[in-house]
Amino acid sequence: MNVKDIRFAERFDGVTGSAIREIFKLLAKPGMISFAGGNPSEAALPDEDMAQIAAEVLKKDGKRILQYGATEGYPPFLEALRGYAGPHFGIDMSANGVLPTTGSTQGMQLLLSALINPGDTILVEDPTFLGNMQSMRLFRAKLVPVNSDGEGMDTDDLERKIRAYHPRMIYTIPTFQNPTGCTLGLERRKRIAALAEEYGVVVAEDDPYHDLRYAGQELPTIKSFDKAGWVVFLGSFSKVISPGMRVGFLAAEPGLLRKCVIAKQASDLHTALLTQAMCAEYITRGLLDPHIQSILGGYAEQMNTMLDELSRMKTVRSYTKPEGGLFIFASLDEGLNATQLLPRAVEKNVAYVPGTHFYPDGGHENTFRLNFSKASPEEIRRGMRLLDETFAQA
Ligand SMILES: Cc1ncc(COP(=O)(O)O)c(C=O)c1O
Repeated sequence: MNVKDIRFAERFDGVTGSAIREIFKLLAKPGMISFAGGNPSEAALPDEDMAQIAAEVLKKDGKRILQYGATEGYPPFLEALRGYAGPHFGIDMSANGVLPTTGSTQGMQLLLSALINPGDTILVEDPTFLGNMQSMRLFRAKLVPVNSDGEGMDTDDLERKIRAYHPRMIYTIPTFQNPTGCTLGLERRKRIAALAEEYGVVVAEDDPYHDLRYAGQELPTIKSFDKAGWVVFLGSFSKVISPGMRVGFLAAEPGLLRKCVIAKQASDLHTALLTQAMCAEYITRGLLDPHIQSILGGYAEQMNTMLDELSRMKTVRSYTKPEGGLFIFASLDEGLNATQLLPRAVEKNVAYVPGTHFYPDGGHENTFRLNFSKASPEEIRRGMRLLDETFAQA
């Protein structure tokens, strides 16, 4: 029999590879200015501190770090996490447990394992993060978009859709959302926590950009308003320390956390002990907050340069004006198609992600996402002018 006839699981029906990963293949071209990824800048990766810390933790606790560990987490990291994430994100550590995860990508998968049967509904922002949409689709969830604007999810529409669809989960990225950069307003945060309890729906609060704020006031997490345990907080060190270390965490009430632990036993047994130990040490030495403070200025300059260029572009009809994060979302005149224009942009050595991939129901072909953290301000100016030329020619 021909291997081409191999029968794949139904969960792959209609699921294609990540659009971003496909675009990454084009970015190897020399001279390419990429606004496509979501990577931290190289200046934001603390390689020297981490080289020293890795050597020291191995010297201090090498036999334990190089052995199998507990699914529940490496004890010094758990202790550091409880001490740091509790007060920092307003999570009540007497009512919630924390579980280290292999990136918050895994946190979402554990939660999906715990909650989702094929055909269950998940309410999501419109647009939303395509990586987690892909995970949801592999669990055969039905994704229903909730009307969203510059302040995130419209909570009236959310309540309507909770009543209409009886969802198993609400997924939100409340701060400097991917792809829009928008932030969920304070009243909406409180209302989402209240709706979750009233209707008995789990909220997955995915907040990896929380600390990358360049303007405005910090807002409390939805989790901080959660008194009854319906909100699960997904944290990540990818955007503030290193995505390559693959360390995130999940905070949830004990019953749900236990299901996630069981799912993680079957997934990867535990997150790498070396990177948990390195994160623990980075936090307990007090290096994390100063590191974050040291990277904000550069990101702010990159974002403001991109916003300034956008304000001059005649081809761009509208764009978001984030106060932090790594992304700006923009739209061209109706009738222009960002997917069709991408190869022409790549020919000019500049890349973005077409916005359609972030919409659960597709469409919105005139939109696109821009990342500003990987290019220098000078490259941002040059790249945005190349984009303007590309769009103008269309
Ligand atoms: C909204 C959102 N959630 C989760 C992730 C994945 O984070 P991690 O590297 O912790 O798996 C990303 C990364 O781009 C993201 O933008």
